[in-house]
Amino acid sequence: MTDEPPFRTIIEPFRIHSVEPMRLTTRAERTAALAAAGYNLFGLAAEDVLIDLLTDSGTGAMSAEQWAGIQRGNEAYAGAPSFYRFREAVTSLFPFRHVLPTHQGRAAEKILFTVVGGPGRVIPNNTHFDTTRANIEFTGAQAVDLPIPEGLQPALRHPFKGNMDVAALEQLLREHAAAVPLVMLTVTNNSGGGQPVSMANIRAVREVCDRSGTPLFLDACRFAENAWFIKTREPGYAAVPVADIVREMATLAAGMTMSAKKDPLANIGGWLALNDDSLAEQCRNMEILTEGFPTYGGLAGRDLEAIAQGLHECIDDDYLRYRVRSVSYLGEALESAGIPVMVPFGGHAVFIDARAMLAHLDPLQYPGQSLACALYEEGGVRACEIGTVMFGLRPDGTEAPAAMDLVRLAIPRRTYTQSHIDYVIEVLTRVNGRAAGLPGMRIVSQPRHLRHFTARFTPLDSASARSMG
Ligand code: F0G
Repeated sequence: MTDEPPFRTIIEPFRIHSVEPMRLTTRAERTAALAAAGYNLFGLAAEDVLIDLLTDSGTGAMSAEQWAGIQRGNEAYAGAPSFYRFREAVTSLFPFRHVLPTHQGRAAEKILFTVVGGPGRVIPNNTHFDTTRANIEFTGAQAVDLPIPEGLQPALRHPFKGNMDVAALEQLLREHAAAVPLVMLTVTNNSGGGQPVSMANIRAVREVCDRSGTPLFLDACRFAENAWFIKTREPGYAAVPVADIVREMATLAAGMTMSAKKDPLANIGGWLALNDDSLAEQCRNMEILTEGFPTYGGLAGRDLEAIAQGLHECIDDDYLRYRVRSVSYLGEALESAGIPVMVPFGGHAVFIDARAMLAHLDPLQYPGQSLACALYEEGGVRACEIGTVMFGLRPDGTEAPAAMDLVRLAIPRRTYTQSHIDYVIEVLTRVNGRAAGLPGMRIVSQPRHLRHFTARFTPLDSASARSMG
């Protein structure tokens, strides 16, 4: 920490070391690309996208030291030194007894829920991410979201909107503890707006879990951003180093699932870590079936090196201050342009309240999808719907509006500069000017699970859009 007065300008705490060109397209090209993709932004070729805010997952820029780690990677099938460096970096922050590398976060979820899930089982979370929910439901178990009520009101300010509703968890465990193999907490709460979970909430959840002997697992993808919010918002943590906050979060849990594509600054990777020896044994057997030998788990040795180095870099105060500040820079500009955004701003993304911005549309006309398409068409900006398209289809095939219809502008780590973000603000402001005329969407085709990745849409004409709701 410095005691000099802070400057107003956000300064990226890195210089650019190698560059990637971006391709400018015309509106006509974008209109055609959108139609060809069935109005699903996952169907676009990335080269047709100018600023890609689809996800912060695996899209960050690696450091010179991470690239050096790639060179050091040891590719032995079993017992590679790269694994031990990876495990040391993981356990220095998350001191769990067993660490199983996986090729990404959902592979850790698949292994864990194959072992502990199944029909009749219930897995509560503050809010399950899409892959977590899908992996749970795929086993026949039920995924239950228990966010605090404040977390579902985009315009309401609360320092820890990602918190779990402890009373609701208590009631669920009182009635169904035998059906609950573990409780999860997602830090930060991605689907709930990238909102942090307080240490007090993690501790309270742990205490409730202890009463029924239920283990608590973290879905810790954005642990460093969460720890930064604890440091800057929760009383008593201002002077505590981020690494110590992370260790405190970890010691309250019995295990974790992790995607190294987020805070650990890697382009691929993940892990499952846990304390329970017998559960770890079952998970390891499953890992060998689906991922590989437990010292590489679906990754190359060089990937393990990139993750180990990224874990050191992502808990740096200067990096985290820049990271969180640059996300709120975007959010504040949109807020002053009169665009309804989820406040306060989360760690990895700004979430636009599409249900409020496109208030003329019914949630089942997918306002988030409509807005995301308009952003691409207007300026080549790719965002992601997190709403009724992502969460509206229930396992029995029926459809209901999601709790919120959000559009996420996820900021890849260390990738875009302030002028890129200024451009995004301009695009959003223009689209806001014609928001009331944006059409609803209808689904033309969709799969049964994770439909947002591959569903195809068609825009409704404005007359039918208004009459449907
Ligand atoms: N948990 C959370 C909270 C996530 O945000 C993600 C991925 C996963 C688990 C799965 O990890 O992608 O490595 O398999 N989220 C990405 C996103 C895809 O865009 O938010 P993965």
